[in-house]
Amino acid sequence: MKLKSGLLVSALLISTSSVAGDIKRGQELHDENCVSCHKSMQGGDGTGIYTRENRRIDSYQGLVKQVKRCKTSLGVSWPEHQIDDVITYLNDSFYKFKTDK
Ligand code: HEC
Repeated sequence: MKLKSGLLVSALLISTSSVAGDIKRGQELHDENCVSCHKSMQGGDGTGIYTRENRRIDSYQGLVKQVKRCKTSLGVSWPEHQIDDVITYLNDSFYKFKTDK
């Protein structure tokens, strides 16, 4: 338990000391892993799912939740910082929510 909260604290420190994740790494991870389903649903390069009119996500917290949900259905176990990278990429490129960081 102690170890776990220590990790949590350092993850928070890392994500607040930089702007958050690394956009370029996030895009690479995203393009390699996250587009297959979205493409078959949305066509094109799949990113239309993030900008469609009736998109689901309307807050930064919602984005975080959905990325984690999709990551689970993808079946990968990424460390927090990689999840952060992908969230940062998506937010920077498509959603543009304020992160209050
Ligand atoms: C197994 C198929 C699958 C994979 C792989 C997948 N997704 Fe998704 N994703 C979905 C589905 C299905 C939805 C739509 C959910 C809905 O509309 O209810 C979705 C929706 C989303 C949305 C919300 C779009 C909106 O409406 O604003 C985000 C963000 C997202 N995915 C991120 C990711 C990320 C990041 C990855 C890679 C880690 C990923 N997805 C991998 C199936 C997948």
